Amino acid sequence: MTEPRKPYLPFTRPTIDEETIQGVAEVLRSGWITSGPNVRKLEAALSEYFGGRPVRTQMHATASLEHALLVAGIRAGDEVITPAMSFVATANVIVRVGARPVFVDVGLDTRNMDFDQVEAAITPRTRALMPVHFAGLPVDMDRLYAIARRHRLRVIEDAAQAIGSAWRGRRIGSFGDLACFSFHPNKNLTTIEGGCVVGGSPEEVSRLELHRFHGQAKTAADQVDTLFAAGKANLSDVAARVGLGQLAALEQFNARRRELAARYYSLWAHDAPVRLPARGDEGHNCHMFAPLLPLERLSISRLQFIQQMEERGIGVGVHYASAIHLFTAYRALGYRDGQFPNAERIGRETVTLPLFPAMELSDVDRVVEATTDILRSAAK
Ligand SMILES: Cc1ncc(COP(=O)(O)O)c(C=O)c1O
Repeated sequence: MTEPRKPYLPFTRPTIDEETIQGVAEVLRSGWITSGPNVRKLEAALSEYFGGRPVRTQMHATASLEHALLVAGIRAGDEVITPAMSFVATANVIVRVGARPVFVDVGLDTRNMDFDQVEAAITPRTRALMPVHFAGLPVDMDRLYAIARRHRLRVIEDAAQAIGSAWRGRRIGSFGDLACFSFHPNKNLTTIEGGCVVGGSPEEVSRLELHRFHGQAKTAADQVDTLFAAGKANLSDVAARVGLGQLAALEQFNARRRELAARYYSLWAHDAPVRLPARGDEGHNCHMFAPLLPLERLSISRLQFIQQMEERGIGVGVHYASAIHLFTAYRALGYRDGQFPNAERIGRETVTLPLFPAMELSDVDRVVEATTDILRSAAK
């Protein structure tokens, strides 16, 4: 008798409970489905979560990051230092506001920006630093803000993956300059699509509101003025209601993610067939578990590994398949192969293995067994 086939295990899947689904149905029946009471409730709840700092939501973190740069006054001719390994949105928003992204390499295991290179990259045109808390592992916040203070730079934290992460016991977003979070379905908290900016002076917060809705401000009960020609990026109440349900479960989700990640590390404590990512501490929200494949010692490619995992019913992601500076849009700015070797190697070798709150510990066992088996058979 052959064993029954195990259900497909994706590399990630959102967990949305029945109470949230019912709540969304109520919003849909209420007659008010775009930005309204639920957006205000979500912003208030997030503000409380981030220690009382202001929070403004947008329809995705790409908008959050772009608006944060704009309200921080970043414009044409400015330079913004950012890592060469991230989701491309991090760099795209810098280009979109007219500034130049100045890349630095990342740690091979932390995937976070190398602060020695950051210091070396500062020029008279540098206006801001845009670090990424990659996979939810916080960057060294002490060093980041020491550099920013010394050189009078703004910081726009790309905290897209870092909700619930903490540095020395303080939540990312609860201190510092501007921090942007994503609520995309892959993230630890989802609103389907969504994002937010945390922080900012009262003036910057009101500019965030203008940027997400046509640059319009109310001047009287029946009057508006358009102060500048902005676009539109407001979150819907349907999305916000999903976020409220998610926020209530966030600590539980993150605790579960940490347990699952701990299982990977303990099963691969010896003779791991992959290069493990930096483990972090209890301040890691374990957004992703992304080891590197030892491709030089394998007779198969990354794609073949992914296909063999798929044949065993296990999904594998790639975050991210290329360092940003190697994309056509960034080569056009003068960037070349070989400039950021760690970012480039991560791009070639990284695989994201399943990690999401609804998984069982036995699912981790299954992934570890399949990965180990495939890689041992493919060893040169
Ligand atoms: C590091 C990073 N920055 C920015 C973004 C953009 O977020 P969104 O998809 O919400 O626009 C993401 C989302 O994948 C991300 O992972």
